[in-house]
Amino acid sequence: MRTPIVAGNWKMNLGRREALELGRAIAEGAPTQGVTAIVAPVALHLAALGEALASAPVLLASQNAHWAESGAYTGELAGPMLREVGVRYVILGHSERRQYFGESDEGVNRKTRAMLAQGLRPIVCFGESLEEREAGQTQAKVEFQVRAALAGVGAEDAKDVVLAYEPIWAIGTGKTASPEQAQEVHGFLRGVLEDLYDRATAQAMPILYGGSVKPSNFAELIGQPDIDGGLVGGASLKAESFLELCRIAV
Ligand code: G3P
Repeated sequence: MRTPIVAGNWKMNLGRREALELGRAIAEGAPTQGVTAIVAPVALHLAALGEALASAPVLLASQNAHWAESGAYTGELAGPMLREVGVRYVILGHSERRQYFGESDEGVNRKTRAMLAQGLRPIVCFGESLEEREAGQTQAKVEFQVRAALAGVGAEDAKDVVLAYEPIWAIGTGKTASPEQAQEVHGFLRGVLEDLYDRATAQAMPILYGGSVKPSNFAELIGQPDIDGGLVGGASLKAESFLELCRIAV
């Protein structure tokens, strides 16, 4: 009932030529149905990718956005500007932004509500550190982050939110959460969403897994009942592996 999603977070990688080449290769090979393929290049290339992907079965995401629609916020990007160049999704609260740029739960919530009001779909990231996992705090941490991100978001709008569970210890480390470990968190979160909204809303909301996803581990991950796709870093930088992930998801 939930269409699988494969979202490539290119992070701060790829110059203009490389980004366009990768975008075009993905556009040519992406399945036309059964999966929502998304790519998130650096902001600088969004407009060019927006044109290159205009009629392709690949949607565009920004890696961040400001909550205001315009104004005196030097260095920031506004939702309406992103929409204008073809962006449909916005990644919010990635652990790298939380760690290096002071992104807070309050800020993620403010941006989540703003993106929804501006017609963009937030991809809200959260996840525990290794220390928190070892201390048995995984569920408490992710529940806190998800409830904080969704504060003030009604059930109708919540259906446009994509959640992305990314255990920090699995990002870029080659260590993937096992399918069982990931499903345990995703299943738990489905219950949190049901408590927060209702069963139908909880069932409609996609929950992606992120952290060292690659073609060799993705089939098992996406085979879990509450894992609806992947938010992919490293393996999204090559057309071949990204397209393989899309095919696995279908
Ligand atoms: O947002 C995707 C991410 O943080 C995972 O990165 O390289 O471990 O797939 P990677």
